[in-house]
Amino acid sequence: MSTTHQLRCTNCGARIAGEAARSDFRCPECNGLYEVIYPWSEGAGPWNVGAPADSVANPSPEVRLPNPGGMRHLWQERKTSTLAVDQSGVWRFRELLPIVRDVEHVVTLREGNTPLYEMQRSADLAGVDWLLAKHQGMNPSGSFKDTGMTAALSVAVERGFQWVACASTGNTSAAMAAYAARAGLRSIVFIPDGKIAWGKLSQAMDYGSLTVQLKTDFDGCLKLLTKLVQQFPIYLLNSVNPYRLEGQKTPSMELLEQMEWQVPEHLVVPGGNLGNSSALGKGFLEMKHLGLIQRVPKISVIQAEGANPLYRWFTDENREMKPVKAETRATAIRIGNPASWKKASRVIEETGGWCEQVSEQEIALAKAEIGAEGVGCEPASAVTLAGLKKLVAAGRVTREQRVVLVLTGHTLKDPQYTIDYHRGELLTAEEVAGEIAGERARHEALRKPPLVLEADEAVVLKALEKRMAKTDAECALAVPGTAK
Ligand code: F0G
Repeated sequence: MSTTHQLRCTNCGARIAGEAARSDFRCPECNGLYEVIYPWSEGAGPWNVGAPADSVANPSPEVRLPNPGGMRHLWQERKTSTLAVDQSGVWRFRELLPIVRDVEHVVTLREGNTPLYEMQRSADLAGVDWLLAKHQGMNPSGSFKDTGMTAALSVAVERGFQWVACASTGNTSAAMAAYAARAGLRSIVFIPDGKIAWGKLSQAMDYGSLTVQLKTDFDGCLKLLTKLVQQFPIYLLNSVNPYRLEGQKTPSMELLEQMEWQVPEHLVVPGGNLGNSSALGKGFLEMKHLGLIQRVPKISVIQAEGANPLYRWFTDENREMKPVKAETRATAIRIGNPASWKKASRVIEETGGWCEQVSEQEIALAKAEIGAEGVGCEPASAVTLAGLKKLVAAGRVTREQRVVLVLTGHTLKDPQYTIDYHRGELLTAEEVAGEIAGERARHEALRKPPLVLEADEAVVLKALEKRMAKTDAECALAVPGTAK
């Protein structure tokens, strides 16, 4: 694989060679974030930074626009290969992310290759005919972060780094720890003390990371780490690192393959630090530019009400970004000062998407509904279904439109949340009081607290008989209002 890429500042447009980026991945001119561009990227213009002068006039064959038909065929063919890079659901699409020189440097756990599920009951609940969920929680470390980590960590290996680090609400650290361990690199994670789910913390420890719990929030962790990487030779693996987003754009390709290149009308994504929505948007927009698709889906971002800086920006007349003090039980998206907000806002605008916020009660209900469909996800992922309900109610998504929810994390990431919910211990009395009657009945039907019984046949039989006599509606298997 040859690498022909540059970094372009998304703020001032300045370009640099990939190796020239500062360790905090900020533009020295304007502090903006970089994006990776290729000779075939939109607006790439004259290719004159870091490239030999004659290659500008006579681009070598690999810098020409990749051929759409040829690429689709090649990507399909690689599915039958036994090579690790071909089996990876990220590197299978490597023509669109030529960021490492040598495939030998690729660190892969065969990420990607995630299922696309039909969600009929959730579709009925949201008021659409057809709903799909791309479950990125089915990645090797249980979240979408693996697709970005394989990309950026491979660059770290190629550039000879020994140490990598990230600040995280949990999933980035789990993914980084796993990929660093595979590559034999040392890793450090900064996490907010007491505010990450156990599943994620245990992963970082299991994969051998040096785990530092700081008495601050995610935003505080990232701020501190950004300073540290400027003093030590540590490679920063947060999503300010533009190579992360190159990996995270590939689910857009995989999704379209799974849909036989039929572009859905809408994609709904949770928003935290806003790298993922930016990456998926980049993927779709690049595919359109390359002629692989004729149009892009609308990309809508959903935030938790208590961690909603993008929503506030979106609904603010003056379109001003004001960081917030974030608070939500969906700890993965407990972020008040999102690094990639400009990139994400551009994606929303360029694709015609929307931004919504959802309450803690709405998140809990949607998570239980996704669980009751046998799919399950972590709380941050459930904002997608909760948000879709609102988008439909407001007429922004219509019944016949095809919608894809991006489920970002596995349900086992945060078992405490699920257990608290089913035991009726998650929401405060005040939150429960704020629910509308229909929602409360729905929560009651969905809750499945475990029965604790004497190990006695008669006792067990009696309890089971009582439960088995319940109707589908009482067990939340039926969609409200549709029971016959
Ligand atoms: N869903 C899950 C499960 C996440 O872990 C995250 C982010 C998001 C959604 C939001 O994605 O930040 O790209 O907008 N988790 C990060 C972490 C911040 O540290 O694991 P985003």
